This record gives sequence, C-alpha cells and structure tokens, in this order.
Amino acid sequence: LWLILGIRRRLPGEPPVENGWIPYMGCALQFGANPLEFLRSRQKKYGHIFTCKIAGSYVHFLCDPFSYHAVIRQGRHLDWKKFHFAASVKAFGHESMDPSHGYTTENLHQTFLKTLQGEALPSLIENMMENLQTVMLQSNMLKSSSSEWEVDGIFAFCYKVMFESGYLTLFGKELDGDKTIACQQAQKALVINALENFKEFDKIFPALVAGLPIHVFKSGHSARENLAKTMLHENLSKRTKISDLISLRMQLNDSLSTFNELSKARTHVAILWASQANTLPATFWTLFYLIRCPAALKAATEEVKNMFERSNQKVDPKDPKLVLTREQLDNLPVLDSIIKEAMRLSSASLNVRVAKGDFLLHLDNMESYRIRKDDVIALYPQMLHFDPEIYEDPLTYKYDRFLDEKGQEKTCFYRGGRRLRYFYMPFGSGVTKCPGRFFAVHEIKQFLSLVLAYFEMELLDSEVKVPPLDQSRAGLGILQPTYDVDFKYRLKTQ
Ligand code: HEM
Repeated sequence: LWLILGIRRRLPGEPPVENGWIPYMGCALQFGANPLEFLRSRQKKYGHIFTCKIAGSYVHFLCDPFSYHAVIRQGRHLDWKKFHFAASVKAFGHESMDPSHGYTTENLHQTFLKTLQGEALPSLIENMMENLQTVMLQSNMLKSSSSEWEVDGIFAFCYKVMFESGYLTLFGKELDGDKTIACQQAQKALVINALENFKEFDKIFPALVAGLPIHVFKSGHSARENLAKTMLHENLSKRTKISDLISLRMQLNDSLSTFNELSKARTHVAILWASQANTLPATFWTLFYLIRCPAALKAATEEVKNMFERSNQKVDPKDPKLVLTREQLDNLPVLDSIIKEAMRLSSASLNVRVAKGDFLLHLDNMESYRIRKDDVIALYPQMLHFDPEIYEDPLTYKYDRFLDEKGQEKTCFYRGGRRLRYFYMPFGSGVTKCPGRFFAVHEIKQFLSLVLAYFEMELLDSEVKVPPLDQSRAGLGILQPTYDVDFKYRLKTQ
C-alpha cells in the first residue's frame, strides 16, 4: 500500500519524513503558502533535519547553519547541475545547456565568471553609470520646472530606471540610436516593450519552475517569445556597446552549440531574467527602507556627498557625468550595510542540491543521516536571516546592522556564542552562488549614489507601513512587495 500511494517510510538512519496528505504534491501547498512558517514548525517538531515530500520529490531540509558546510562544500555525492539546467529549460524553452546532453560544449559557469567578475567589472560599471544618469534625468522622469515634485511609486520608479539601464548595459544600444530623435524614440520604445514583456513573463516564472507548461499561459508565453525575437542574433548584432557577457555568449552559441536561432535567443532571455528579476525588487526594498528611515538617509547622503567631493566631482544634472570607480564603490560601507539589510529582510532563495547516489550526510553535531539517490537537499537561508539569535529583533530594519564599531563592514555574527560562517546568503552558496553578485551590488550602489546626489526624496505618507512580501515567489530570490508605495522626488538645488 505504501508503494501504491507513493509514500515513503522512514528507514533506520534517515531523517524524519512527512509525506503530506495529497498524493504526489505531498506538503507542496503548505510549504508554498508560507515556507518560513512551515519550516520553523517542522524544525520544532523534528529538529535540524527532516524530509518533506514536495511535488513528487523528497526534499531534506537542513536547518542548522553550522551544518550548511556539509552541503555547500561541493562533495562528490551532490549534483547542482541537474536541477539548475532543468529549471532553465522549463522556464525559457531553450535546449539543454548541460554539455552532457550534447547540444553544446560551452562551460556556462566559466562564461559567467569570465564576463561578470574581475577584469570584466570596470566596463560594466562605467556603462551602467552612464546609462543610469541618462535614464534618471531624461525629460519624462522629471517635471519641467525643477522646483516641482514628481510623484511615482517607488517600485515603478526603480523598475523603470534599473531595467532600462541594466538592459542597455548588457545588451547595448541600437547602432545609430543616438543620431536622430526618431532613432532615440525607437530605442526607447524597444526598452519599454521589453520591460512590459519582462513583467508579464516574470509573473508566470514561479509556475514554470514548478513544472507547468508555458502553453497554459497565453500572455506570459507570448511575452517570452516577444523578448526572444528581439534577441535573435541577427538583431543583437545590429547593436553597439554590447557587454562581454552577451557578445561571448553569442560567439559560443554560434561556435559550440547546435541550437537553432530561436533557442540561441532564448538563452539570452534567460540572462536578461537572471540579471533583472532579483535586482529590481532588491533596489525597491533598498530605496524604500532608506527613504523611510531618516537616520539611514542622513548617513547615506553624507557618505555619497563626501565621496563625490573627495574625487572633485560636481553634481550637475545639466551635465550629468558623475563617475565611480570599482575601488570607490567598494569603499561605501554605509550603502553596503543599507543594501545588505534590505536584502536580509526580503530574500527567500532556496539552495538546492541533488544526491547522485545513496550516501551518508555528516552534520556538525556528529550525527549522520542516510540520503537516497535522487533525493533533494535544500537550505532555506531566510531561516538564518530571520533568526533572533543571529539578528536581534530580526523584523526590524536597522540600516547599520552590517557595520562594526569603526563604521566598517561587520563580518562577525554569532549563534549560541559560536561564530557563524554562513549568516547572509541572498546570492546562494558554493558553486551555484550568483556569478553576477558583484555587479548587482555595484549597480544598486550606483543607483543609490545618483538618486541621493541628484534628488530630494520623500514618502507621500511618512507613516506608511512596510508592504508584505509576496510569498508566491518564495524560493526564487528577492521577493516583491504585494503593493507599491508612493514617493515624491525633485532635483536638488545644488
Ligand atoms: C543565479 C541572486 C543579480 C546573474 C543566482 C542565484 C541567486 C541569485 C540566488 C541562484 C543561486 C543558486 O541557485 O544557488 C541574485 C540577487 C541579485 C542577482 C539577489 C541582485 C540583487 C544578478 C545580476 C546578474 C546575475 C545583476 C547578471 C548580470 C546570475 C546568473 C545566475 C544567477 C547568470 C545563474 C548562474 C548559474 O546557474 O550558473 N542569482 N542575483 N544575477 N545570477 Fe544572480
């Protein structure tokens, strides 16, 4: 009967197991409704590790941060590729990027490291800074008289500014985009369209990762295909100032893969999504909490002002040419703490590995557990981020939480008197850690430096409550707010 119902019985040495009530789905609905609450209640009942059936898979949740290392260290028993490559195929519809499936020999991981980190960063930073200023100060963002306030949603504002700037930084501009007004308008229309399509597709993303076929979602499906059309190589090759990431990926798609043109384009849609889907809500939360907290706003404004003054730069919206080097961006501890605190409060990523075979998982407390082949092991770092033993008053925003007594980056966090190695994980962990994390933090710092330098900003309602996190995306990264919050901004009188 157990076998017929697809129910697992706990064998000696295995973690406690919960099969849930619904065949196949198991605990999926309860987990999906509020993962943090679900996991906390099971942790209370079962301890550091337990197994839940979720949509046909058996998932071992590991809740002891001192044991995270056992999963994050890339042991020979755990596979990270299977899950990630499969999720990308399901969501974006390209052929498999896993070299063992035979469609490409590209080592995607290497491509990302080479084009998003180290020597690749200065040109990404330079282009992003230029694009941010162009977008932020263009006429449709500001009232004609500079003393008049413009009102917008913080979410809407962040999406407009960051999406366009990030899009142009990675995918470049139309070759003759700057020449005539008509060309500029066509370029603008392309980006606005891309943002609309991105939002439409992003809505159905959780359902696609959960395994639903894209054909069920008419508008989400056509949004993805519209994005792909703009990213056909014949269209991308008409653009200038394309990032190293996209130009290398185009070259490798053409030389190492057997993908057809549409499949190649869909791999670029995957990168657009990865580069924006977390950055946009992260920017929202950072700006929202910042404007809402006078002490944070004061400290950040001072830090930014000092930095531009030290490098002898004049803030002039009529001649917007502020620059920030990588070294300067890495030396903004207040902004760094402000971004970390906003992401601590809004991140809900799930770190997943798959067991390659039966093996014994050794935990920090010397206990070992038997894991079966194809079982999933998952870490849910939101449990760390909201742990009152690690972060006092975890639901309260404290902009300086990640600063030490000297005002520099704080790196020592403790639980039960023991120093933690893992305490902040919005970018994932180990080999699957986000390869774009340095660029992501740089671009948010650039955005903040510029809005603080150019604009005065105020909430329309200074007592506004923090909007709840939209749990429908839990597991996928930074959660969105369930509704937008209005603010007003105008150019500062210099
Ligand atoms: C993967 C977070 C911004 C590129 C990931 C993952 C997370 C993440 C959690 C998955 C890690 C895992 O599966 O364990 C974030 C956050 C961002 C951000 C919180 C912003 C605040 C960016 C940006 C880029 C980028 C700006 C690129 C320009 C990627 C890529 C992957 C990835 C390409 C897939 C890596 C692979 O599968 O090998 N990111 N990310 N991310 N991210 Fe980011």
